[in-house]
Amino acid sequence: MWKGRFSQATADLVQQYGQSISYDWRLYPHDIAGSIAHARAQLKAGLLTDREFAQIETGLFEIKEEIASGAFEFSIEYEDIHMNIEAALTKKIGATGAKLHTARSRNDQVATDTRLYCRTAVDDLDGLVRDLQRALLDRAQKYATTVLPGYTHLQRGQPVTVGHHLLAYVEMLERDKDRLQDARRRLNICPLGSGALAGSTINLDREAIARELGFDGVTQNSMDAISDRDYVAELLFAFSLVGSHLSRLSEDLILWASSEFGFLNLSDAHTTGSSLMPQKKNPDVCELTRGKSGRLYGNLTAILTAIKGLPLTYNRDLQEDKEPLFDSIDTLTLALRVNAEMIAAMEINEMACLKAASDPLLLATDLADWLVKQGIPFRSAHELVGKAVAAAVNSGTPLDQLDLTEVDPAFTANASSVFDLQTALAARTNSGAPSIENVRAQITRWQKQL
Ligand code: ARG
Repeated sequence: MWKGRFSQATADLVQQYGQSISYDWRLYPHDIAGSIAHARAQLKAGLLTDREFAQIETGLFEIKEEIASGAFEFSIEYEDIHMNIEAALTKKIGATGAKLHTARSRNDQVATDTRLYCRTAVDDLDGLVRDLQRALLDRAQKYATTVLPGYTHLQRGQPVTVGHHLLAYVEMLERDKDRLQDARRRLNICPLGSGALAGSTINLDREAIARELGFDGVTQNSMDAISDRDYVAELLFAFSLVGSHLSRLSEDLILWASSEFGFLNLSDAHTTGSSLMPQKKNPDVCELTRGKSGRLYGNLTAILTAIKGLPLTYNRDLQEDKEPLFDSIDTLTLALRVNAEMIAAMEINEMACLKAASDPLLLATDLADWLVKQGIPFRSAHELVGKAVAAAVNSGTPLDQLDLTEVDPAFTANASSVFDLQTALAARTNSGAPSIENVRAQITRWQKQL
């Protein structure tokens, strides 16, 4: 493609080192859509005849079919997807193919293709996040009233319900979708027409190209347009945060599925056995998901590092944006799909949850609140209940069976009325708190929204 200036062929090792066709081939539908829009603008500008445009369009459609069917032969001699397609077109239709690259550079071409690819990926991932939310919502509804302990520091804190716990993840994933949509809005701007870095002396209708490709507008600075990879970094950050939410969910499920907790049964289809220990049923999907968050963070770090010291404008370092991007999209796609499937099939052991939630210490805060309602300042109430807890622990008596009036006369016989889980939950009526009524209202809200 640049033989004019050179008297030696590119060394084999340089070709191996610089090729991106082994991974950027997947940009092909976007590359072809971009080329057709570009050719149409050339036609309008009088640079192509109707016949030439038709030849280019038909040739590109054929190439698309060949790639889709696996018949296309990629060559590392042509480095990347852009040159592979252009070379194939010229081979197919002759000299007309060689006109296509007028007023275009691979720099604005790859920026356009990557933005289009990202846009499709965001739309696909948005749907997959929604599917996972739906699976969580389905389980939240089934176990809306199942009481279990809520934890801080992994120590039993206060009673919540499984529904409330699972809906926490639905909230996180909603913010993730919002972040993806926000990134989509910023990336959906067309860089084509920016050329290598300074536009072109041949002016094509950039707005028309952008419209044809479904962009919301055109970039306003050619140098920025071809060297900008903010959208890749932004997406990799948004993906990383999805990864961190999935990883936290995985950790909860791993704990719940352990014999120590015993709250959760994952289906046989979504667990694995041990080749040595016959009794094992391992939550590998959760562990892999927790582990893969590391890849997602690594890919974000890779792109941030690759772009940090680059002078304007295009530098070949930018080719390093694609593998992390593709890897994160692939990783997240499968993670979301398998988790949605696994969660839809999981069963909660309600008896084990209730047993754990029946620990009266979970209602120690409610007991302090009871004292507050009798007019005792919270700090004093906290201390009095602390004494009662110490007495219970030291005497080996459950807190709800202790004679509280012996601990302090501020407690009356009526105080033990707090030790009722249903009453305790029902009292938590503030927005966002886990009363059954609130949880049901949230479930209804999500059902409408999702
Ligand atoms: N394969 C290249 C990339 O992904 C395309 C742009 C090449 N541009 C250049 N000036 N060498 O970045």
